[in-house]
Amino acid sequence: MNRAEAIIDPGAIRDNIALLRARALGADFMAVVKANGYGHGIVPVAGIAVESGADCLGVAYPSEAMQLREAGVDAPILAWLYTPQEDLAPLVASDVQISVASVGMLEQVLAAAASAGARARIHMKLDTGLGRNGCPPSGWQRLLHRVRLAQDEGLVEVIGIWSHLVSGEEPGAAITAEQIEAFELGLHEAERNGIVPRYRHLANSGGVLNSPETHYDMVRCGIAMYGLSPGPATGTSAELGLRPAMTLRSRIALVKTVPAGQGVSYNHRYRTSRPTRLALVPVGYGDGVPRAGSGKLPVLVGDQQVSVAGTVAMDQVVLDVGDLGVRSGDEVTLFGGAPGQPSADDWARLCGTINYEIVTGISARVARMYP
Ligand SMILES: Cc1ncc(COP(=O)(O)O)c(C=O)c1O
Repeated sequence: MNRAEAIIDPGAIRDNIALLRARALGADFMAVVKANGYGHGIVPVAGIAVESGADCLGVAYPSEAMQLREAGVDAPILAWLYTPQEDLAPLVASDVQISVASVGMLEQVLAAAASAGARARIHMKLDTGLGRNGCPPSGWQRLLHRVRLAQDEGLVEVIGIWSHLVSGEEPGAAITAEQIEAFELGLHEAERNGIVPRYRHLANSGGVLNSPETHYDMVRCGIAMYGLSPGPATGTSAELGLRPAMTLRSRIALVKTVPAGQGVSYNHRYRTSRPTRLALVPVGYGDGVPRAGSGKLPVLVGDQQVSVAGTVAMDQVVLDVGDLGVRSGDEVTLFGGAPGQPSADDWARLCGTINYEIVTGISARVARMYP
C-alpha cells in the first residue's frame, strides 16, 4: 500500500449514476468530472460514467476537455469557462462543445471554428440569477441575434441553452422558482429568434434531488454521482441512497511514548494530559487534509475514531492514541463511506466547509486506486 491512498469505488459511482438517472427519468445525464473528477480522477471517472450510461461529460476548462480527449475519451464533452486569450481551435477540432455567454465569447469561438475548419457546437448560457458566467438577461437578445446569424451561415450549431442554480441544494428555495421563470423567458426569446436546441439544462445534483421541474432535457450531476449530498437540507448520503465513492486511507508511520505535558505539533495547540502514546499519520495539508481541521478531524484507527491532536502540518498529523492497541504500520481511514468511518461530511462540518471542498482538495500527492 502507498503512504496514502484515495480508494475510489467504481461500483458506488455506477450505482449513484443509476439512482440519479432514475430520479431524472426522461432527461439525459451529464457527468460533471471537472477538478479531477472532484478529486476522484477525471479520466477513470469519465470512463466509469460513460460505461454507466452518461450521455455527456461536463468540465469547466478547455484543458480538462483536452485531457479527456487525449486519454481517448470520445463521449460528448461540454467545457464552459475560458479566458479571451485561450485558443479554442483544438476544442472545436476535437468536437468539444463550448459554452458561450457573450458576443465576445461567440467571436472567440467563431475564430476557433475558422481556424479548425469545422462548425463549432455551442451551448448558450443564460444567467438566471447566479451572477456568475452566464449572459445577463439584458444582453440575451443581442447574443441570440448574433448566434442566429452564425447559425444561418453554418458556423455554429446550438446544441444547448443552459443555466446554473443558485440554491439547488435547498428544497423549495424561492430562488429556484425565479430561475425557472427567467430560464423559460430566455428559452422563449431564443425560440422567437429561431434557436431551438436539443438540450435545455438547468439542474445540478441538488436540482435533480429536490426539484423535478428543473430537469428539462438533461441534468448535470457532480457531487451526488460521487455519493455525497449536495447539502444537509437535501439529506445525508444514506437518506438519499447514495454511496460515497472515496475512502482516504494511510498507515501509521511511527508510534512513540511521551510524558504528560508533551506539546504536540506546531505552536503546541495540543498538550498531553497524561503519559500517553502518539501516532504519526503521514498526511497533511499538502495532501488536502484541511489545516482548519487542526485538533478536530476524526480518523479511524482500528475500530476507534480519534481526533487529530494539534495542528495539521503539511505532511503529517498526530493522534493521541493512549492505550489503544495501535502499532506503527497499522492502517488508518481518514474518511470514507462505510459505517463507523468518519465521512467527508463530518470533515466538512468540522472545518466549516462543504464536502465538495474536502474531496476535491485531495491533492496529487495521494495515489488514486480503483479496485
Ligand atoms: C455549471 C455546473 N453545472 C453542474 C455542476 C455540478 O454541480 P453538483 O456537483 O452540485 O451536482 C457544477 C459544479 O459546480 C457546475 O459548475
